[in-house]
Amino acid sequence: MQGRAVYIKTFGCQMNEHDSERMLGILESKGFIEVDEPKYADIIIFNTCAIREKAEQKFMSSLGRVKYLKKKNPELKIIISGCIAQLQSEHLLNKAPYINYIIGPDNLHILANIAENELPQKVFTHENTDMANIELPVVRKAPVKAWVNIIYGCNNYCAYCIVPYTRGRERSRPMERVIEEVKALAEQGYKEITLLGQNVNSYKDKDVDFPALLEEVNKIEGIERIRFVTSHPKDLSQQLIKTMKDCNKVCEHIHLPLQAGSNKILKLMNRKYTYEEYLEKVKLLRESIPDISITSEIIVGFPQETDKDFEKTLNALIEIQFDGIFAFKFSMRPGTTAASLDGHISNDIKTKRLSTILNIQDEITERKNKSLEGTIQEVLIEGKDEEGLIIGRTKTNKIVKISSELQCGKVFKVKITKANRHTLEGNVL
Ligand code: SAH
Ligand code: SF4
Ligand code: F3S
Repeated sequence: MQGRAVYIKTFGCQMNEHDSERMLGILESKGFIEVDEPKYADIIIFNTCAIREKAEQKFMSSLGRVKYLKKKNPELKIIISGCIAQLQSEHLLNKAPYINYIIGPDNLHILANIAENELPQKVFTHENTDMANIELPVVRKAPVKAWVNIIYGCNNYCAYCIVPYTRGRERSRPMERVIEEVKALAEQGYKEITLLGQNVNSYKDKDVDFPALLEEVNKIEGIERIRFVTSHPKDLSQQLIKTMKDCNKVCEHIHLPLQAGSNKILKLMNRKYTYEEYLEKVKLLRESIPDISITSEIIVGFPQETDKDFEKTLNALIEIQFDGIFAFKFSMRPGTTAASLDGHISNDIKTKRLSTILNIQDEITERKNKSLEGTIQEVLIEGKDEEGLIIGRTKTNKIVKISSELQCGKVFKVKITKANRHTLEGNVL
């Protein structure tokens, strides 16, 4: 191959964002540089997401837009990676025969060969049980914060979710590797790490479980903040709550997807907890860590969700008072158990329910933020926003904008002067 420029577009979750960092790591080690427009690239990678139909549509239109580039330059390599790649390789090749390679999330390492050679095989989607033992180079996008994988795949099979089919079975990365990576990050000057997995609470490496791993990471000098996503409520143990409280670097924030407030719907979703059990855990979290912020995820319009069921979700939001949520309309994913349930809900009703949810939560979020006005928060400076204002985050993961020049990667005490719906403003003390 002549040129060595790569364009990569990422859809989906943090796991995918981090996989893109690892693909860039592989390609950079082969002499590639990243470009920000497909027309300058010798390799184009679409790292795809299958979580909802919308994510799929966004990718398909991006793919259509680069077809002409391939006509102009037959040497151009188009690579599809990520969750759609894993599921739909045949369909993709039928629809877009100009695709050169399809790589599933377990097979990223194959990029090293693709960068050097023309391979006879196009599709790399076989299950790779050794995934958790393969170490790949990483090019990180953010200067202060870094993602660190601790567990791959998911065994939970929530009825609506495609992830267990795209990311395979759960595999925990050996603790020594996680610790080595975090130590190296500390040496490079990173201050905050986020431990990544679809369900970090089921981390298990021999006798090391997730709380034990957190304790080890907490000891690493140089790292100031530790976060983790995502926690499944059914696996959130008292031990974990205690560890969060005891480990000074573990941030006072947990992302704990509730999904629905009705026990009937939670059961149909195969979430394996009741609303009452969830509430109990929220109570315990707040008792142990008084300032903790709790964020969540909600799906509206799951099959068979009646007005009454939906009301229970609304009541849950009012009762729990989350600091923030992501809410989605249920999207039917072929092959999941929810797809074959009766009683699918019309798009109109889903749209109405979503906007009701978002309105109520906006008020709650705003009220919660307002209660921080006048308080003093420790803010880790991350960089600047588009307007050139300094931005950082509280330990509770709230964004703070500050109008003085401050050094990236340092923590400052900041007095919160104003709360907006999604951000805070403040002055350095
Ligand atoms: N492992 C994480 C995140 C999974 S995907 C977890 O257990 O929470 C992120 C969110 O997307 C989910 O929490 C869920 O709210 C939403 N989601 C997943 N599948 C969906 C679907 N088919 N339709 C709508 N939202 C979905
Ligand atoms: Fe999907 Fe459930 Fe696994 Fe999360 S825990 S990735 S929602 S199956
Ligand atoms: Fe999407 Fe796959 Fe993540 S489906 S949300 S990119 S695990």
